Order: sequence, then C-alpha cells, then structure tokens
Amino acid sequence: MKFLFIIDDIASLDPTHDSSVAMMEAAQLLSHDVYITTIERLSVVKGRGYAHVSPVSLKPVQKIDNHWYAERDWYRLGDWAFVPMDSFDAVLMRKDPPVTSAYLYATYILDLVDPQKTKVINSPRGIRAANEKMYALQFTSVIPDTIVSQDKEIIREFLREKKTVVIKPLGGKAGEGILLLHEGDKNFNSLVEISTKQGREPIMVQEYLPAAQQGDKRIIIVNGRPVGAVNRIPTKGEFRGNMAVGGTVAPTEITPRDWEICHTVGPQLLQDGLFFVGIDVIGGYLTEVNVTSPTGIREIDLLYNSTVAQTTILEIERFCRSHSHL
Ligand SMILES: Nc1ncnc2c1ncn2[C@@H]1O[C@H](COP(=O)(O)OP(=O)(O)O)[C@@H](O)[C@H]1O
Ligand SMILES: [Mg+2]
Repeated sequence: MKFLFIIDDIASLDPTHDSSVAMMEAAQLLSHDVYITTIERLSVVKGRGYAHVSPVSLKPVQKIDNHWYAERDWYRLGDWAFVPMDSFDAVLMRKDPPVTSAYLYATYILDLVDPQKTKVINSPRGIRAANEKMYALQFTSVIPDTIVSQDKEIIREFLREKKTVVIKPLGGKAGEGILLLHEGDKNFNSLVEISTKQGREPIMVQEYLPAAQQGDKRIIIVNGRPVGAVNRIPTKGEFRGNMAVGGTVAPTEITPRDWEICHTVGPQLLQDGLFFVGIDVIGGYLTEVNVTSPTGIREIDLLYNSTVAQTTILEIERFCRSHSHL
C-alpha cells in the first residue's frame, strides 16, 4: 500500500520522540511505500486534491539502554513529484497544532481527496469538528467540572466554588498557556484578561484535579479502541505534566475506569472519523481529546517493548481494505 504523511518539515522532527516517525517506520517495515509532504505543498486542481510528495526511506531508531537512538542521517528523500492524493491508499494528516488558518485550509483541500480511493486519517471533517479542548465537553459523565467563558464574573464565580482551577486557552497544546489559579489570587483579573485577550476569546476553566501530581495519562485510541498508555508526571516545581515542559514518562495501566472513558468516547470518535487519537486522563477524568497529531507511541513502545506503531499501521491497512470499493 501507499502511505502519504503530511508532516512538519521532516528535518524538524525528532525520530526518537515523534509518533509520525514511529508510524512511518512501521509502515516501511510492513513493506508499504512511504511518502511525505507538508501542508504548504497541497493544492486543488480541477476539484481534486494534489500534493508535491517525496518518497522517504528511514533508518529505524535503535533501543539502547532503554533509550531510542537515531542515526544522524535517519531519513533519505527521493525525487519530488506532483500527484493526486487519491493515488495513495492512506493519507495521514500529522501536521502539529496549533490549528491555524493554514492548517484549516489544508483540511478543506483534504476534503477533495476521493474517499472511495483513499482514507484520510484523521478525517478532515472530524478534525474541524473536534477542538481538542472543547470536544471532551460532550462526554459529561467522564469529565471534571468545566466551564468555557470569556466572562470574568462567570469565571470568578466558578473559582469561588472550586477554590482552585486550571485555565486553558482553547487553541493551546503542549502545556502552553495553561495556568493554575487559586481563589483570592491577586492576579486574577489580569490573568483572565490576558487569557481571554481582554474578554474577546473564551477560555476553558476546569476544576483542579490534585491527582495531576501523580500524572496525566495519555491513552492512544486507534479505531475506537485503546492500544497503549503512558503516564506523564510533572517535574519538580511544575504542575503541568506535558513532555514538552519536562514531564517524565512512566509506565501505567489502563484501569477499568479508563476503559469506561474509552467506551464513552470511542463510538463518537468513529462517527467523526477520528481514527488515531490521544486522550488525556487525570485521576480518572477525561481532560483532553487530541486529534491533530497526538504523540506518545515512542514512549509507550520503549516502556513496554510494545509495537503500537505497527498495530496502528495494521489497523489502518484493515480500515483501508474494509472500505475499499475497488
Ligand atoms: N483539571 C486539571 N487539574 C490539574 N491539572 C491539569 C488539569 N488539566 C490539565 N492539567 C495539567 O495541565 C497539563 C496540560 O493540560 P491539557 O488540558 O492536557 O492541555 P495541553 O496538553 O493541550 O496543553 C496536563 O498535562 C496536566 O498536567
Ligand atoms: Mg494534553
């Protein structure tokens, strides 16, 4: 099969950490042809989505002393060509957030890839439907108490009730702009003004979950089912667990409560074409549904000696075959 990965500049990827590289390697290992492109290289011609693509061959990372190691020249590109994206079996949209206008326009181009020939993962409609912070709000039985507002008085009232809250910009990722706020904080007004851009943008305000100190669990969900999980524990002096801000990874398990969350979320994910997703769970509560370019595969495969990357590619193969009309 032919796989196209829409990624950030390949030279900027970290092969020892990025799930996109793990999936490209797995696809190569499973004898698929792997190509890359970027959102800047997408076009529409005569109503058909096209891309400038390059084949890529990878030198797989090696596990040494419980770390991944990559060769300096871990990838090699071939000749670029301008081809219709429906010449691929699967197109994986793996551009990193934030969801900018350019990102959004790329999803509209992906709408013009023939779904009879090619599976786009995640579905461009699904990506547009699922703001990574707001999507979780529909699963009221498994999320912590949360409001979304730009109104200072509503936020103040919620803080009065909860005593400690976490503030989240709706377009953020990797811990950016996440703030911890206690009742009586002298910076309350200013922090809310900064976060809401002077009341012009809503933000998420969520009850603080003390269990976050024990970790923020990332569960990878493929085709509606959990395939692996990793815990991310905040580093000293920090309340955010994100790997990008120094959170350390640790093994964990998928508890009965986690299964319940996955069963709650899974069917909706499938309905929205969200095939490869990373959910965040803190103390048994769903806090975020990552759909753009979730990460965690490398960490999981290192900790457990597992092959989540290959499982993912095999699931994509099955998905492509099951929907094939050829
Ligand atoms: N309700 C919460 N209570 C305590 N800590 C939280 C809460 N929500 C998020 N955090 C912390 O903030 C980090 C980032 O939050 P998250 O909602 O996953 O946004 P993102 O990862 O997109 O920046 C989490 O890893 C966690 O450590
Ligand atoms: Mg997160």
